[in-house]
Amino acid sequence: MRKHAIIGNMPELPYSVEEAINGLRINIGFLGNDIKKIMIISTMPDEGKSFVAIQLWRQMAESGTPTILVDADLRKSVTTEKYGIRLENGKIYGTSYYLANNFSLEEAILHTDWECGDILPNTKNVINPSRLIEGERFDNMLNNLAERYRYVFIDTPPLNMVSDGERIGNRCDGAILVVRGGATSKSMVRNSIQQLKRAGCPLLGIVLNRVEGARSGYYYKKYGGKYYGKYGSKYYSDKYYYKK
Ligand SMILES: Nc1ncnc2c1ncn2[C@@H]1O[C@H](COP(=O)(O)OP(=O)(O)O)[C@@H](O)[C@H]1O
Ligand SMILES: [Mg+2]
Repeated sequence: MRKHAIIGNMPELPYSVEEAINGLRINIGFLGNDIKKIMIISTMPDEGKSFVAIQLWRQMAESGTPTILVDADLRKSVTTEKYGIRLENGKIYGTSYYLANNFSLEEAILHTDWECGDILPNTKNVINPSRLIEGERFDNMLNNLAERYRYVFIDTPPLNMVSDGERIGNRCDGAILVVRGGATSKSMVRNSIQQLKRAGCPLLGIVLNRVEGARSGYYYKKYGGKYYGKYGSKYYSDKYYYKK
């Protein structure tokens, strides 16, 4: 049975942020046909992974590109509550439930008001999801989704906390690294890039996110980026980082 979810709290973004996400969407379009499973990751919590993931998903769907957002933060996801995701009738069985049970993908996938945008939220956080992430069922799920959708965006836990991100990255075609302006040091970012490399997950790009007062802050100098307004996001290609 086709399940339809309501996303009650999708925020309206300021023009500058909407444009930054749009730039990211366009850049992803140039990555080539074999880049489908894309992980959105960061070094630390609160850098904006879930924010970037859901906004990118929305814009991709609005542009008419079949896209699914998979919440693979199986430990601490707050997306369902924060964005008011609910079914008109019944309970959502999310990612962790799907992975742990004999449940079909059709029953797990939720359609939304965005015709091209489906979601697989995570409704039940688990203490140790490593087994679920390492399992063959996880791999099969991603591959199966990659056959059905043009893009599979995967929201993840941060790299510094647990090894989930590396494990997931190993199964993806690439990662977008979200960096919170003024919060994550360059050496930490470098470390994350190394972790992704070790996991065999190509770095597709870096999003400098939550940039506040960037022009006067050290971030502006260090990253040499353009200022995109309060809470702006800016996309850098991976080459930018490898150069340094
Ligand atoms: N560019 C942005 N503009 C406005 N708010 C943002 C932005 N990026 C993140 N946030 C907010 O910051 C908080 C942390 O972001 P979140 O996406 O939950 O981080 P993560 O998933 O990396 O832990 C959330 O309340 C989110 O809505
Ligand atoms: Mg998150």
